Amino acid sequence: MDSVLRLARKPLENVRVGFIGLGMRGPAAVERFTYLEHATVVALCDLYPGPVADAQKILRDRGCKPAREFTGPDGWKRLSELPDLDLVYVAAPWQLHAAMGVYAMECGKNVALEVPAATTVEECWALVDTAERTQMHCMMLENSCYDSFEMACLRMAQEGVFGDIVHVEGGYCHNLSAYWDKYRDDWSMRFSALHHGDVYPTHGIGPLCQLLGIHRGDKLSYLVSMDSAALAGQALADSRYGAGAVPFENGDITSTLIRTARGRSILLQHSVMTPQPYSRLYRIYGTRGFANKYPVPGFVFDEGKEYMPAQEASALLEKYKHPVRAALEDRAREIGGHDGIDFIMDYRLVECLHKGLPLDMDVYDAAEWSSIVELSEKSILGGSVPVPVPDFTRGR
Ligand SMILES: NC(=O)c1ccc[n+]([C@@H]2O[C@H](COP(=O)([O-])OP(=O)(O)OC[C@H]3O[C@@H](n4cnc5c(N)ncnc54)[C@H](O)[C@@H]3O)[C@@H](O)[C@H]2O)c1
Repeated sequence: MDSVLRLARKPLENVRVGFIGLGMRGPAAVERFTYLEHATVVALCDLYPGPVADAQKILRDRGCKPAREFTGPDGWKRLSELPDLDLVYVAAPWQLHAAMGVYAMECGKNVALEVPAATTVEECWALVDTAERTQMHCMMLENSCYDSFEMACLRMAQEGVFGDIVHVEGGYCHNLSAYWDKYRDDWSMRFSALHHGDVYPTHGIGPLCQLLGIHRGDKLSYLVSMDSAALAGQALADSRYGAGAVPFENGDITSTLIRTARGRSILLQHSVMTPQPYSRLYRIYGTRGFANKYPVPGFVFDEGKEYMPAQEASALLEKYKHPVRAALEDRAREIGGHDGIDFIMDYRLVECLHKGLPLDMDVYDAAEWSSIVELSEKSILGGSVPVPVPDFTRGR
């Protein structure tokens, strides 16, 4: 099958987009799209009519035409089958992303999938196979790749400022106790109850793989994972469903180590149950320099043992500000969404489709980053055994 590495399709004057999944995350994306010059929201879909009506109101309030409406269990298929649609944007529960992505591409649509794009390796391959067969774009909506520190460090790494990078760390460390009850249904809680492993790896691994040039000169070779006991997780399940009613498998903290073909190591953490400050870690160890994002961004270079003074670090970040951030961040912060990163992500997606450019993230990124969900569980269930990471580019 033909590769979709660097896939570029015919430029689209206007990107006609349909949204599937209008719960907590979807409606904000609908609103962001109303600010994009080269995009029009033409279709809205949710299992239930209420969220669709609420999203129509967003369009109305922004002075846009009403979109076509789809509801019910098969609404998402009918949306994907629309002839006058270029992009399907999915913010549904994790378990549905891959099936929705495959179907949309088979209907000749580009697809953008919320994180993670898939929950099994088989689903990752289904996305890759379908993208290659149909030659359609499939991008995972990994917004952390557009954060200012990550983008500046990406540029610094590409310009050799850290020397040779030997080790990086990332993760999703976010005490979610305030969020569990906000979910319309508890699909993510149920998934975590059933599975060991890093169930939400992409915010951590995404920017790190970009930094290391994964499938752009290096590749993920194998991983080992270990989790802690699920004490806080089990207590949460007991409080929701009754003591002992739902056994909770997912460890309170899951750590994964990945080795790349060029001998770099990656530490990935997933920790969403216990009290802690928000962090995606984002730490870089190079032969000439060190960077660390949380709690305060800082750098150490050459002979240094202490963080460089804060003013010098700010000046460095300004010097290496990524051109994408420089062009968009003021507007992005006005429109909002995680300090503007969501708007920059959507802007870049539409800009690349509009100009007929390869997207910032391709289907191989989506597959590599999402495959950690199942591979980390496999390692844990085998006693923290090494598990190979598939080469989704088939050696390309
Ligand atoms: N990148 C980020 O920062 C970020 C933040 C929050 C959520 N997310 C991701 O966004 C996705 C959605 O999360 P959420 O918090 O909005 O969840 P949610 O449960 O609030 O919303 C999901 C919506 O999908 C709808 N849905 C379910 N089955 C459907 C079907 N068959 N057809 C159509 N619609 C269906 C539900 O009715 C609901 O409205 C998840 O993948 C999550 O991980 C990403």
